[in-house]
Amino acid sequence: MNGERFAQITGWGMCVPERVLTNADLAKVMDTTDEWITSRTGIRERRVVSDAKESTVTLAIRAGREALLTAALPPVELDLVIVATATPEYIFPSTACLVQDALGAVNAGAYDLSAGCSGFIYALSAAADAVRSGSADHVLVIGAETLSRITDWTDRNTCVLFGDGAGALIVSVRHERCGILASVLGSDGSGGELLILPAGGSHAPASHETVSAGEHFIKMNGREVFRFATTVMPRAAESVVRKAGWHLDDLKLIIPHQANTRIIESAVKRLSLPPERFFINLERYGNTSSASIPIALCEAIDEGRISSGDKLALVGFGAGLTWAAVAIEWGVPLPARPQPWYRRVFAHVFFFLAGLRSTARRSARRLYHVVAGPVGRPGLSGRIRKAADRLQAWLRR
Ligand code: UT7
Repeated sequence: MNGERFAQITGWGMCVPERVLTNADLAKVMDTTDEWITSRTGIRERRVVSDAKESTVTLAIRAGREALLTAALPPVELDLVIVATATPEYIFPSTACLVQDALGAVNAGAYDLSAGCSGFIYALSAAADAVRSGSADHVLVIGAETLSRITDWTDRNTCVLFGDGAGALIVSVRHERCGILASVLGSDGSGGELLILPAGGSHAPASHETVSAGEHFIKMNGREVFRFATTVMPRAAESVVRKAGWHLDDLKLIIPHQANTRIIESAVKRLSLPPERFFINLERYGNTSSASIPIALCEAIDEGRISSGDKLALVGFGAGLTWAAVAIEWGVPLPARPQPWYRRVFAHVFFFLAGLRSTARRSARRLYHVVAGPVGRPGLSGRIRKAADRLQAWLRR
């Protein structure tokens, strides 16, 4: 063992909503057909959140919990939580902070990352940098989306493409050479308007006009994005492999962003690799943006497509425009050793207690505000004020 630090993937988890929306369901409510969607995209069905109780944060929490369980890592050990998303719970606070709180990751910093469908790879690269530099030992990286909430269900050009879901990885420090060994990040903001949510930001805050013009929905120039994707995907894969010091043929598996089988087939051709080295599951989930790659990785693991020592590339592209790739040498023996039942029970008790802690802190803050009012306001006096202020300071720790 030496002192060099490597960023290893030690845990993984995914979560998709239960509700399935098939191409046939869509064909009942709009001018489309299963044949058109399947032949042009490869998508047969997608998952969508069903009610107000499900959102980006609930999917992210469930995927995050699974990843912590597979890594057998207590949430208090996390140093950082990064959530890549184009559909955050709010503009602020960050979705990552809500996830941090729900998981009881009390020692972690948290932030969201926006890089369109490449977001998860950007986040993974940031996590690996944090681990290798020594600023973090354990990072939870999540890609989570509820694209159904920003989809125009009357626009057949876009609504047939997207789905909801979340995937998560734990990146932990190890001292043997393995894990995330290279990354490539790229961007071209001149193509920003090709895939855009026009309103809701500082450029066009929400108003009656923006809502009635449908500007809070995804707008996409599909053909241009298609052209861009078929160019950058193979290029990003080639350059990350070169950066890792490998040859393309060394790759056991490529996990591409799951947007369209025709885009993936074009990459297969350009890279001259056998098609079976590309993992595809978009027929069941559609394009889940930043969640698509971690969900695909989890399913590749479940299907036994990855073994210890395998060389993998994850490659994404998306809004921004952005593209990104990471090269990974898999270091964890698979199939993962099943967790003893008591460890799962203990973890669930911890998550329950983290929820209670969060509720208690929120309630105490509200109570303080009602009883004591803002600091300096006359009302409470002497010892009671001091005790209330002390409680408030403790809550802020
Ligand atoms: O994560 C990144 C996000 N985005 C992407 O990756 C999307 C990249 N682009 C694509 O995947 C493809 O461009 C699409 C799947 C979006 C479209 O496929 P295409 O082969 O490029 O179709 P097209 O845009 O050339 O449209 C062909 C025709 C049009 O009719 P006209 O104008 O030729 O009469 C569309 O109106 O297909 C029509 N069309 C549909 N027909 C039935 C578009 N959507 C539908 C639909 N059902 N759902």
